[in-house]
Amino acid sequence: MKKNLCIAMMMATLVLWGCSQEKKQAEAPPPATMPPVEQAMDKAKEATGAVAKQVKKTTGAVEKKVEKQIAAVEEKVAATAVPVKEKIGEIADQVKAAAAKLTTTVESVTIDNKNGKVVLPHKKHAEAYGCAVCHGDKKPGPQKLGKDAAHALCQGCHKEKKSGPTSCNQCHQKKAKSLEGC
Ligand code: HEC
Ligand code: HEC
Ligand code: HEC
Repeated sequence: MKKNLCIAMMMATLVLWGCSQEKKQAEAPPPATMPPVEQAMDKAKEATGAVAKQVKKTTGAVEKKVEKQIAAVEEKVAATAVPVKEKIGEIADQVKAAAAKLTTTVESVTIDNKNGKVVLPHKKHAEAYGCAVCHGDKKPGPQKLGKDAAHALCQGCHKEKKSGPTSCNQCHQKKAKSLEGC
């Protein structure tokens, strides 16, 4: 009886062992001889991955470099913009002055009025004081000042400068009475 049990146990052990061996065989890794095409594909995949990583790294670096350069240029522009603006202002003033001299072709203007014509040494005044003093912001040209405005403008400056005519006859050239009505 004991012997039979022993044999049965041995058989069982054998069967179990056999089963586990079979299972092991089924789980065993695929044969080491991977088809060469698959191997090559794997290698290629690895290589592309590496290249992609490198490209990402380098483009990042290039972007940073370009950004730095742009920042440097912007700084330079900002630093030079102010002097350039001032220079342009200077040049504009010079051009304006030159233009004023060129446009003052009218040597003198005669301002007719009932109190006797007034002859204004136009060019002399223009070159000394510019156009805006008398013409304002408008484009200089023929203009009618009117008595009060004219007196205020002309006499006002002459008094202020303590130079230039301030009495009636110095400005108004009255016609001789005897010549009137001829
Ligand atoms: C002192 C004042 C004064 C100044 C400075 C002056 N003008 Fe005049 N200008 C006059 C008056 C006043 C008249 C108008 C005369 C009229 O129409 O009876 C005139 C007329 C003119 C006319 C028209 C002349 C014509 O007979 O057709 C021109 C163009 C002109 N001015 C240009 C200028 C320019 C350009 C400047 C500056 C460079 C200037 N003027 C500066 C007072 C001035
Ligand atoms: C911004 C100042 C100013 C204004 C505006 C001005 N003058 Fe004069 N004017 C002078 C001065 C300064 C003199 C004297 C210096 C000179 O003769 O060079 C003068 C001189 C004159 C003279 C004498 C010129 C000579 O050769 O003897 C006349 C005429 C005259 N102005 C007329 C006028 C009339 C007219 C007006 C207005 C339409 C006028 N001025 C506006 C400053 C001005
Ligand atoms: C600096 C020059 C100047 C002096 C000085 C001056 N005037 Fe005039 N006056 C003028 C001018 C220029 C006009 C013309 C204004 C216009 O018609 O645009 C004028 C206009 C007049 C007018 C207006 C005439 C009309 O047609 O309506 C009278 C009036 C006059 N003046 C009187 C006088 C008297 C009076 C004095 C002296 C107390 C005097 N003026 C001194 C420059 C002068």
